[in-house]
Amino acid sequence: MDSCLIFSPNCSMWREALLVVTLCAGLALAQFPRECVTPEGLRSGQCCPSPTGASGDECGSSTGRGQCVAIAADNRRHGPQYPYSGRDDRERWPLRFFNRTCQCNGNFSGYNCGQCKHGLTGADCDQRVSVVRRNIMQMTAAEKQAFVDALNQAKSTVHPDLVICTRRYQEVLGPDGNSTQFENITIYNYFVWSHYYSVSKTYLGPGQVSFGGVDFSHEGPGFVTWHRFHLLQLERDMQNMLGDPSFALPYWNFAIGGSECDICTDDLMGARSAFDMNSISPNSVFSQWRVICESVEDYDTLGTICNSSESSPIRRNPAGNVARPMVQRLPEPQDVLECLELNTFDTPPYYSTSSESFRNSIEGYSAPQGMYDPVIRSLHNLAHLFLNGTGGQTHLSPNDPIFVLLHTFTDAVFDEWLRRHQPGEVVYPEENAPIGHNRRFNMVPFWPPVTNAEMFVSAPESLGYSYEVQWPARPLTLSEIITVAVVAAVVVVAALGGLIACVVRARSHHSAEALQPLLGETFRSYSEDDRRLDKSQSVV
Ligand SMILES: *[C@@H]1O[C@H](CO)[C@@H](O)[C@H](O)[C@H]1NC(C)=O
Ligand SMILES: *[C@@H]1O[C@H](CO)[C@@H](O)[C@H](O)[C@H]1NC(C)=O
Ligand SMILES: *[C@@H]1O[C@H](CO)[C@@H](O)[C@H](O)[C@H]1NC(C)=O
Ligand SMILES: *[C@@H]1O[C@H](CO)[C@@H](O)[C@H](O)[C@H]1NC(C)=O
Ligand SMILES: *[C@@H]1O[C@H](CO)[C@@H](O)[C@H](O)[C@H]1NC(C)=O
Ligand SMILES: *[C@@H]1O[C@H](CO)[C@@H](O)[C@H](O)[C@H]1NC(C)=O
Repeated sequence: MDSCLIFSPNCSMWREALLVVTLCAGLALAQFPRECVTPEGLRSGQCCPSPTGASGDECGSSTGRGQCVAIAADNRRHGPQYPYSGRDDRERWPLRFFNRTCQCNGNFSGYNCGQCKHGLTGADCDQRVSVVRRNIMQMTAAEKQAFVDALNQAKSTVHPDLVICTRRYQEVLGPDGNSTQFENITIYNYFVWSHYYSVSKTYLGPGQVSFGGVDFSHEGPGFVTWHRFHLLQLERDMQNMLGDPSFALPYWNFAIGGSECDICTDDLMGARSAFDMNSISPNSVFSQWRVICESVEDYDTLGTICNSSESSPIRRNPAGNVARPMVQRLPEPQDVLECLELNTFDTPPYYSTSSESFRNSIEGYSAPQGMYDPVIRSLHNLAHLFLNGTGGQTHLSPNDPIFVLLHTFTDAVFDEWLRRHQPGEVVYPEENAPIGHNRRFNMVPFWPPVTNAEMFVSAPESLGYSYEVQWPARPLTLSEIITVAVVAAVVVVAALGGLIACVVRARSHHSAEALQPLLGETFRSYSEDDRRLDKSQSVV
């Protein structure tokens, strides 16, 4: 069966020209452009559509936008966590599906070079455009409402370009070799699906237990780069959906301590339902949302892949995990400061067991100060677990829209770390990271191919967005305040003149210094006690 597909490129020039090209194509397939997933397209291994629909204009080559090239996939060693070879479609992504793609010139980008690179706009993609991601709590009522409405629209708007694959490659052409197993999916559900696809287990065959020691987006250096692209894609899709290139995803500063979910109100992500503590209030549109990718048993035992069918409502019970007190409180502002001070991006084995690793600290498998401890869940992980529901389960978490806000903040911390440490891509491991996490690995399942390295850059300078964040001040500020007060006092006393004033100044200065370590120690031991308490309780 053939279907006629409408395809509208996104660059503003194209949008203005309202260039809508109708292409007749075969059946649609996976997280690839709709026009590439025909049986012929799949058999050719080539996905190089034309931005205008004109035949023979692959990747807009006639206007110099780009050309169709062989895909480079990472061939370096990966870590020992994944012991197989040739068993998983995601190895050396995306070669199992396609080995030729568009390579765009200059400032063009996209799967057919019909778009501009992030941060650029205009017919020739030579005008800079920058979006600012802001604290959602500081937005006006109208801005909050507009964001909630936009999310809700994305939940029901079919993705204009991409379709999802619902079978492993082996079965992708269907039983007759001609019925491709791809489905349309909405913009928001694509966001959920791509996360699921990156964390799903490796199917080893009927009757065999699927292998779970694989994760293309967590527990490795690619955690920060993968989620950064994930958000960029959603933001771009929503900008196109709204026809507003200045649309920016806001963030949730989750490092506020305490057990209150401040964004869980009906004007934002939905309050708690008065009828069921695990549900969202009926006054919020999010109580109407239904999740995808819930049928893990099917996927793991049948070797199928999550499809676009929606099932149950979002579950959420902030601070409600009574069996695990450690995850009943949000991270503290201090935790963010401490992880930002770690100098090393990631440390061997570049895994969830890494110590003194900025990445493992912000991801939340080690203490914010860097020490690895199997019991600890901090920062990003802690914020997820705090939600005690859909948002706390890796294969489902983006179904709860809090995911978006939680990850923009995580990305803001990553960008601030890049700004402070100016590391350059050399600090990102080239090899021996878990599969999917090497520097040149194409992140799974994004299309067109994009490597971890491409996202390991300053967002304001290279990706066209920035964060408006007030980073918390160190508690040291307290002693600084004392020092300032003392100095001020000294100045007053000095104004009285004479030798006595000089003596006082010397003593005051001395006492200010003596105060500093005392205050520091008080803070440190308090938090240690806190953590020890949590640990012993969560072990039980
Ligand atoms: C998928 O979406 C496209 C674009 O909205 C539409 O043209 C097509 O008919 C849809 N296909 C199916 C099977 O719904
Ligand atoms: C690319 O993929 C196609 C289809 O699977 C295959 O026939 C071709 O040999 C591949 N080319 C290379 C260079 O791997
Ligand atoms: C890309 O955009 C930048 C920023 O506007 C501009 O300076 C540059 O000339 C553009 N490059 C090309 C090849 O058009
Ligand atoms: C698939 O369909 C095409 C066109 O209908 C036909 O030519 C081809 O033989 C079919 N291939 C298989 C494997 O059935
Ligand atoms: C979608 O997934 C569900 C759960 O695995 C399954 O029951 C259903 O048959 C799938 N739908 C299609 C069209 O494959
Ligand atoms: C939520 O908390 C309950 C009670 O402690 C716990 O049994 C359950 O596993 C948690 N659910 C999730 C998804 O975290």
